Amino acid sequence: MTAVAGGTSAAEGAGSGEDAFLAAFDAAVAAEERIEPRDWMPDAYRATLVRQMAQHAHSEIIGMQPEANWITRAPSLRRKAILMAKVQDEAGHGLYLYSATETLGTGRDELLDKLHAGRQKYSSIFNYPTLTWADVGAIGWLVDGAAITNQVPLCRCSYGPYARAMIRICKEESFHQRQGFELLLALSEGTPEQHAMAQDAVDRWWWPSLMMFGPPDGESAHSAQSTAWKIKRFSNDELRQRFVDICVPQAEALGLTLPDPDLRWNEEKGGHDFGTVDWSEFQAVLKGNGPCNEERITQRRRAHEDGAWVRDAAAAYAAKQAAGSDEKAVAA
Ligand SMILES: [Fe+2]
Ligand SMILES: [Fe+2]
Repeated sequence: MTAVAGGTSAAEGAGSGEDAFLAAFDAAVAAEERIEPRDWMPDAYRATLVRQMAQHAHSEIIGMQPEANWITRAPSLRRKAILMAKVQDEAGHGLYLYSATETLGTGRDELLDKLHAGRQKYSSIFNYPTLTWADVGAIGWLVDGAAITNQVPLCRCSYGPYARAMIRICKEESFHQRQGFELLLALSEGTPEQHAMAQDAVDRWWWPSLMMFGPPDGESAHSAQSTAWKIKRFSNDELRQRFVDICVPQAEALGLTLPDPDLRWNEEKGGHDFGTVDWSEFQAVLKGNGPCNEERITQRRRAHEDGAWVRDAAAAYAAKQAAGSDEKAVAA
């Protein structure tokens, strides 16, 4: 801390106190201890977590929309039951993450207001449309698969409530990934038309899935600090590479091809080389110009307004219960 001429001793005392807190925080992070809600933490660490966790929570609930489009059109009762369970899981993920964000002192109402006003983002992948039933499979296999690759390291995130929420979320995401794979396998091994439908879905979802890992390492604005704080454990490019290497043998097992002529095994690096992601498309979707940005946020606002009576009823019930227990307390 820089000494300020004429500064009071009290101010200096407060400053050195903060230095001690910061040293304790840094030591805890270095020792792989979890930071808990009651612990002191730097304002920027708190703000980074709120931004990341809110974006994650928003992605979970907006992500319900593209797949929910197919619930009424699922081809069998079994597929409908599976899809309903999956979409409900995503609502649950949103709930865990909003609750985890509340431990940082930011309420869910505030976060939802920011989402609805376009001041906080959600994953751009959900701004693409689900054109056929096979898209439900491609989302499960590729989008949930990419989410798992991103999120497994978050189970070791330095912030305790986020890390613990991610453990359960990752277990559920694994089921989502497998149901997508199984759905695509059934289509791939079905009629020629079903096989073509599965291939078309993979062709459309492959590149947006690679974009889910964020911009290349050199252009990633928040990565270095998040890595130092042990919120982030691997770089965007490392995770993207890992995802490609996982998907290639799975695509072979599915009997489907990945739409990248540059995809090939590189013995020297022990991983696959792959083509360049179209980052101009990523930036366009991020800026709100994807195929479904407007539709997604309009639907989200409508769902929030339609649910106002539930929130009002819950608040009225809680007030009534509290008044009742006050009366009992007075009577006693
Ligand atoms: Fe999820
Ligand atoms: Fe999922």
